[in-house]
Amino acid sequence: MKLSTTLLLAALLLPTLGSCGGGESVDPPADSDSDSATAPVTETVTEQAPAKIEEAAKTESGMDQLEALENQATGAVEAAKEATKEVVISKAAQALFDSYCVTCHGKTGKGDGIAAAGLPVKPASFTDAAWQASVTDEHLALVIAEGGAAAGKSPLMVAAPGAKDNPELLNGLVAIVRAFGE
Ligand code: HEC
Repeated sequence: MKLSTTLLLAALLLPTLGSCGGGESVDPPADSDSDSATAPVTETVTEQAPAKIEEAAKTESGMDQLEALENQATGAVEAAKEATKEVVISKAAQALFDSYCVTCHGKTGKGDGIAAAGLPVKPASFTDAAWQASVTDEHLALVIAEGGAAAGKSPLMVAAPGAKDNPELLNGLVAIVRAFGE
């Protein structure tokens, strides 16, 4: 992570730093995008990258740039995570939830399915933010894959058929439970 971030920053920073010439000092680059004198620099880019980055880090504007780029990179990673969340729910997972889990948990995830009245221990409402915050994904996966008893919960929370050996199905079910909280 650290190394790849540094490389990414190097790649992003170099065209900007190139406009500073021989590399004795790094002036705050005013408007790097409009500077056309950066072309020759790209040839020596690979050898000079570490030194340039180090130099940039010594100046305040360089540090600001590094920080801004790091923030950008973090933002991109978060966005990517959000995007994958959407596709994690497979059709099989949704179908299993809609036909099976709903009997106890209900279509709304509130624990009001047709079989819920007969349960001595009522399931938590998946829409409850406090409950969502109190459970980890690992806990949800354990309960769903192996049943409530495996996590000290009611044994009437039965393991999802086939989920234990099927990460895609299991992750999909966890994502469905999480989606009720959003
Ligand atoms: C026969 C009824 C029943 C079915 C079917 C059922 N559950 Fe549950 N589930 C329960 C009960 C009861 C609890 C509450 C357990 C407790 O709090 O001790 C529970 C709790 C849970 C919890 C929360 C555990 C916690 O720590 O609060 C999750 C997540 C869950 N079920 C997911 C599922 C999924 C996904 C399915 C479908 C694959 C499913 N359940 C099918 C009865 C059921």
